Amino acid sequence: MTTKDIRERIETLVDQGIGKTLKETGGIKHIGIDPDKSLVIMIIEIAKTGGEEEKTMLRQIAKIVKIEMGFKGLKVQFEETKKLESLGNRKIKFIIVASGKGGVGKSTVACNLAYALTRQNKKVGLIDADIYGSSVPRILEMKHEYPTASEDQKILPFHAFGIELISTDFFAGEGKPVIWRGAMLNSMMNHFFNDVKWSKDLEYMIIDSPPGTGDIMLDLKNLAPNAEVLIITTPHPSASDVAIKAGIAARQLKHNILGVVENMSYFINAVNRAKEFIFGSGGGIQVAQKLEAELLAQIPINQPKHHLSLFESNEEAGQIYDDLASLVIISE
Ligand SMILES: Nc1ncnc2c1ncn2[C@@H]1O[C@H](COP(=O)(O)OP(=O)(O)O)[C@@H](O)[C@H]1O
Ligand SMILES: [Mg+2]
Repeated sequence: MTTKDIRERIETLVDQGIGKTLKETGGIKHIGIDPDKSLVIMIIEIAKTGGEEEKTMLRQIAKIVKIEMGFKGLKVQFEETKKLESLGNRKIKFIIVASGKGGVGKSTVACNLAYALTRQNKKVGLIDADIYGSSVPRILEMKHEYPTASEDQKILPFHAFGIELISTDFFAGEGKPVIWRGAMLNSMMNHFFNDVKWSKDLEYMIIDSPPGTGDIMLDLKNLAPNAEVLIITTPHPSASDVAIKAGIAARQLKHNILGVVENMSYFINAVNRAKEFIFGSGGGIQVAQKLEAELLAQIPINQPKHHLSLFESNEEAGQIYDDLASLVIISE
């Protein structure tokens, strides 16, 4: 009998706390045999320790090791892994919306992309991580509410327009800013990933990031290693130069770049339907070329008809967001 034999038998056991086998969770951390004492020692990582799940697992392991395989002694050390439940471990497409510069329409694009994905029957989550200028709740026309907790002490996400979301804004008093430091941002993102009761069937998670290039992408490299970055720019060089820097920073952190969106690209003259490039032109294509990424959409300057900042499919910008959502879906 080798440790390999034991592993093969044990790894089919199901971690009841997460509903996956130990093979799937990679929960077998160590198996050792002390042949003199006929003793098996193992370290097993499970989603929840100290409860029925642990007792059941121990009984099943003891049955295999002692009764079926004939060892005299067994010592199992259980360790709880938060990581298993973490959002970052799930099969979700993470999209970090970044621009480097503020005011280019990052939050508007993030929310409209999320909304367009729900129109294609996708289950979408949104994390508003712009701690300095959180605007997602306003874009989604939400009233200020403090978060509440579920019975198992998880933060319940909010819902708007079919999107499941959490925002730093809800943790502050209404209309009040929070003074954040880098370290707090990191622990906030950890909470958003580990302690929010996100729906089990989320397919997309859009992350609206604060202006700047650094901190958040670094945190997300650990939390969601497969996250891809959507770079937002305007046609003007003042925005595209900074967007390129944000893209380079993303690359350095080994984040894949999903593509580039040029926002406020043009204005459609109501009289002759001509496109007027009032904020300049070429920013989007320049960013895409520099980052060797694709320019996925060019969004005109306009105001939505039905909502504060969200467009519907029967509007021109809404159609552009529908196309962007389709490109995001087929990019998998
Ligand atoms: N395509 C657009 N046409 C008109 N106004 C826009 C457009 N995109 C964004 N805006 C407006 O510009 C402002 C900044 O957008 P926002 O999404 O908050 O930018 P960021 O998140 O990058 O700071 C908001 O008032 C928003 O309504
Ligand atoms: Mg914003």
